[in-house]
Amino acid sequence: MPDASESPPPEPRPAPNSARVQGLYQDLLLAHYRRPRNRGTMEHPDAVGTVANPLCGDAITVALQVDTDGRVRDARFTGQGCSIAQASASMLTEHAIGAMPDDLRRLRQRVDQLLAGDADVVQDTTLGDLHALAGVAGFPARFRCATLPWEALELALRQAPHG
Ligand code: FES
Repeated sequence: MPDASESPPPEPRPAPNSARVQGLYQDLLLAHYRRPRNRGTMEHPDAVGTVANPLCGDAITVALQVDTDGRVRDARFTGQGCSIAQASASMLTEHAIGAMPDDLRRLRQRVDQLLAGDADVVQDTTLGDLHALAGVAGFPARFRCATLPWEALELALRQAPHG
């Protein structure tokens, strides 16, 4: 008979590609699409980047205000794009505000790895909502939709003082 004081076995963690996780990812993407964070024009930006997706003609613009040490003080996005592009832009701005350019470039690399289905990055808990983009990994045609705002961010960072 098992010892009643034994703690129950830990719940198995769902595989990142399980139906449950895919559903959570979809819900997160939809939440950002329906209630985008930091969407709108910015008065007096220090730097702006716009990138178009040649596959569909959509374009996303990222505008930044930057402190003298290079830290992003504020970030906004505008433009046309599918739900994945809009949700990705919304999540990007949340991460960008308060971040240093090099941190954002590293984050972009992690996002690219996530979209490529890199198993290590899928387990990275520091990515927060960005994990929802892992759901795009199974759809290579949508890769560009997800990366569009990050390319616009890179363009803006290159323009920014101390970028
Ligand atoms: Fe145009 Fe996704 S279909 S950005």
